Amino acid sequence: MEPVPEAVLARLTPEERAFATGERGRRQIEYAGGRLAARAAAQALGVDWGPLMTGEEREPLGPVGFTVSITHKNDLAIALVARDAEGCVGIDLEGDGRARLSIASKVCRPEELLEVEALPEQEKWPSVMVRFAVKEAVYKAVFPFVRHFFGFQAASVDVHDGARVTLYLPAEDPVMVVESELEWINPERVLAMVRAKKKRVFPSP
Ligand SMILES: CC(C)(COP(=O)(O)OP(=O)(O)OC[C@H]1O[C@@H](n2cnc3c(N)ncnc32)[C@H](O)[C@@H]1OP(=O)(O)O)[C@@H](O)C(=O)NCCC(=O)NCCS
Repeated sequence: MEPVPEAVLARLTPEERAFATGERGRRQIEYAGGRLAARAAAQALGVDWGPLMTGEEREPLGPVGFTVSITHKNDLAIALVARDAEGCVGIDLEGDGRARLSIASKVCRPEELLEVEALPEQEKWPSVMVRFAVKEAVYKAVFPFVRHFFGFQAASVDVHDGARVTLYLPAEDPVMVVESELEWINPERVLAMVRAKKKRVFPSP
């Protein structure tokens, strides 16, 4: 938990650097790592952007025309960047080797919990962890459209069908289409990537 070295802070924009300097410990490391990951992802798209500021609900504010999402965990920061014509992206990394089954009832909807409980002991946590990762990625991708907090009961994840997501948002929210993808970094660590867009509603003739 040493402070981020000057040489690393120097790779941030002045605005990001000012923010990072005000942070301490793990938060400073994660913030700097996330911003550097986002800039690297943008450059891979051929885009060189300015400071990646933070919105009122902690959402990353990419430049007009782009969607960006960040996740970090101790030793690793990952960002997903895309052009936003196709909707908003969300990314989440979960898994640090600890099985935290006590969070299962918070993360899972009742029907998901029944499935988890029926699994052999060693398969329970991976099943919860995948749902956890996908749901947090869903939150990050859907938040820009709904602009309010929604909890883990607002989605279910079909772990047998490519982590397919079903959303249960309030009726006043736009109807969303969500695509999801998983990447296992190692057997204990999973990355969930989500793209959310508004469902097109065609007026009846
Ligand atoms: C916001 C939340 C998803 C962040 O996840 P986390 O595992 O704690 O942390 P991660 O490292 O993966 O992600 C942190 C990044 O998320 C992003 N983020 C935070 N709030 C966000 C929001 N409202 N919208 C989009 N992205 C957001 C930020 O980029 C942040 O990094 P930064 O502060 O360095 O920029 C989580 O703390 C949370 O509140 N979860 C409850 C809501 C939820 O997941 N509901 C499930 C819906 S089905």
